[in-house]
Amino acid sequence: MATYNVIEIGDDVLRAKAATVRRFDARLHRMLDDMADTMYDYDGVGLAAPQIGVSKRIVVIDVGDGLLELVNPEITEMHGNKLGVEGCLSVPEQQGYVYRAQKVHVKAQDRFGEPFEFDAEDLFARACQHEIDHLSGVLYVDKLASPSKQEIAALEAEEE
Ligand code: NI
Repeated sequence: MATYNVIEIGDDVLRAKAATVRRFDARLHRMLDDMADTMYDYDGVGLAAPQIGVSKRIVVIDVGDGLLELVNPEITEMHGNKLGVEGCLSVPEQQGYVYRAQKVHVKAQDRFGEPFEFDAEDLFARACQHEIDHLSGVLYVDKLASPSKQEIAALEAEEE
């Protein structure tokens, strides 16, 4: 097991557009393994390669349903708009409100280059959008919402 140090906001690598992965080799597999270890070590629900200083289109996600590895992911459909609370391992000790699509359709490749696609909703959809944003150099703090008291109350009631 190997873990990386997560890079924090202020570093240029978090703002770069990540490159498409073209080699699905042992090096990629080791990076995916180490990214998962790092995500679990930091108690995160997702991690994108730029956060470990690698400007490539690679993401790992685990919102509690098991590890998902996404290479060259793209969101191809978005539906609905939902307020939620987000944090990011690259913006430590902070949380903020962000509107995200409630449902998304994602196309990606697995660690062997095999294409696959899936639908995601709610927290899973939010994690996909947050992590895929990292590949475009976008952080959740760029998208902070200022919800009304009523919207916050509704969100809290829903979470109870
Ligand atoms: Ni993040």
